[in-house]
Amino acid sequence: MLALIKKWFRGAKIDANLVSSTGDIPRHVAVIMDGNGRWAKAHGMPRVLGHRRGVSVVKKMAILADSLGVKYLTLYSFSTENWKRPKPEVDYLMSLPREFLIKELDELIEKNVKIQMIGFREGLPKDTLDAVEEAERKTANNDGLILSFAFNYGSRKEMTLAMQAMFADFQAGNLAKTEITDELYSSYLLTRSMPDPDLLIRTSGELRISNFMMWQLAYTELWFTDVYWPDFSEQHFCDAIAEYQRRVRRYGAL
Ligand code: IPE
Ligand code: IPE
Ligand code: MG
Repeated sequence: MLALIKKWFRGAKIDANLVSSTGDIPRHVAVIMDGNGRWAKAHGMPRVLGHRRGVSVVKKMAILADSLGVKYLTLYSFSTENWKRPKPEVDYLMSLPREFLIKELDELIEKNVKIQMIGFREGLPKDTLDAVEEAERKTANNDGLILSFAFNYGSRKEMTLAMQAMFADFQAGNLAKTEITDELYSSYLLTRSMPDPDLLIRTSGELRISNFMMWQLAYTELWFTDVYWPDFSEQHFCDAIAEYQRRVRRYGAL
């Protein structure tokens, strides 16, 4: 594995030695990509240019995660609360999945990446949804990295709808009270096809979860950095993995 990482980084100024070849590589890394607006402000630019710059980081991270052996990379891209922003910014954010996919889909297909969206599809502009669903269709049979965009995603809504669906199954006689377990509940969530995140990265210095995967993060290792998402580099990602490898996950045991 280390040889592979080193080969991949040939010529790049990255200390991949930080990541141990014998240490655990997280199977699922989730990222709250935050700080685009403050990055733009710091550079005297409008906020939307921070978002544009932020998008350009995504493919690099997907390729790196894949080459390190991460199986699932989930990126929080738009929350159910982000609709509260001014309409021009929301419109711009809604246009980004399509822009990203027009530019990057072919290469991601070539790299065997499977793309999926977790989030609420109602209310999204048609061309955004069409682009996302086309990417999902075209990559459905890929078995490399599973790259999920949490887009129009919010954990409370996800859990509330899961409870409603469980209640409907109960009322229809398809579910008994005693069948309701942690595992069953997880199977009603948007993340049903993936394991819980092993590592959560949040950029921009904010120390909160902002309605992201509250159920799924129960035993996730958390890693925060002050770096704004547009400045997040391969080295930062390796730093996070290396730190993860130094953690001891006890799950309440000794
Ligand atoms: C993250 O950057 C992207 C989204 C939330 C869509 P922000 O837009 O939140 O940037 P800051 O936090 O205002 O700097
Ligand atoms: C979280 O960032 C959502 C995404 C990164 C998509 P926010 O910028 O919306 O979070 P708050 O408002 O600082 O909690
Ligand atoms: Mg923010």
